[in-house]
Amino acid sequence: MKPVVLVTKRIPKEIEAYLSQHCSLKVWDKKEAISREQLLAEIADVEGLLTTNNCIIDRELLERAPRLKVVSNIAVGYNSYDLEAMKEKRVLGTHTPFVLDETVADLAFALILAAARRIPEMDKFVKDGKWVKSVGEDGFGVDVHHATLGILGLGRIGAKIAKRAKFGFSMDVLYYDRHRNIEQEKELGVQYSEFYKLLERSDFVLVMLPLTEETTGLIGDNEFDVMKREAIFINCSRGPIVDEAALIRALLEKKIRGAALDVYEKEPVNPDNPLLRMENVVTVPHLGSATAKTRSDMLRVAAENLVAGIKGETPAYLVKELKELAVNQPS
Ligand code: GLV
Repeated sequence: MKPVVLVTKRIPKEIEAYLSQHCSLKVWDKKEAISREQLLAEIADVEGLLTTNNCIIDRELLERAPRLKVVSNIAVGYNSYDLEAMKEKRVLGTHTPFVLDETVADLAFALILAAARRIPEMDKFVKDGKWVKSVGEDGFGVDVHHATLGILGLGRIGAKIAKRAKFGFSMDVLYYDRHRNIEQEKELGVQYSEFYKLLERSDFVLVMLPLTEETTGLIGDNEFDVMKREAIFINCSRGPIVDEAALIRALLEKKIRGAALDVYEKEPVNPDNPLLRMENVVTVPHLGSATAKTRSDMLRVAAENLVAGIKGETPAYLVKELKELAVNQPS
């Protein structure tokens, strides 16, 4: 009998066909997202799970899924994984790095430009028929070119953003990361900065860090206090890295000029969230990797990770914290 795999979202026919060669598929193909209760009800006989960050892989779920061998997340981030519990239960966890790097970097840059030049606000102005004479200072934005961009997190995506900034827009690029990356400093001409110095000096502060215990709530009142009053804050990684109440206070009290957000403390964002009523805040609905090509590549990589896992092989993109679960580990 083929191993049972649960897929928690609709997938294209060709991915279904590929997976069906290796497993017996249960696909959650309803329009609404699978709920926690529904997920737990489906999981008892499952050996592989193809899913997204919306499904939390914790101890309770692992205990309800005694046959589970591999969880394949169709995303690069995997803050939905309880890594300790997965290690203990020897369940592989995979993700989809590389294929989305350039696409997310494009979105980060779109947010920088949109906030700096007030694109959504001005778009609305034109469409509302308010453009009756040439626009003066009411429509002024701030320059992106030659400004200073501070990137928190110079991983693969952070580096792609830095490259756009440096070579496309002649920006000065500062970065802060747990690990200094001398090679990238030379290659991209970016400059390492101490955390608070970066906040102090940047015209654009952009968060591109993974969500971990260490980064949760990293940006709060104190950090907004340090930023320039003209600074624009951009978050394209994970909402909970920022204390959203502190961000709202910073915007209301004009501690910073504006913000551009792809991610939120709670997603989908609550329609009552005050951020949605601020003209100086650009909001998009967690679109980082959302192009047809990139999402299709991510799904292919995730499907391959899953198949390797259920076959007892080491998936290409096993997350680094679970490397000790790799098959044929050197002892
Ligand atoms: C999206 O947020 C991802 O982690 O791929």
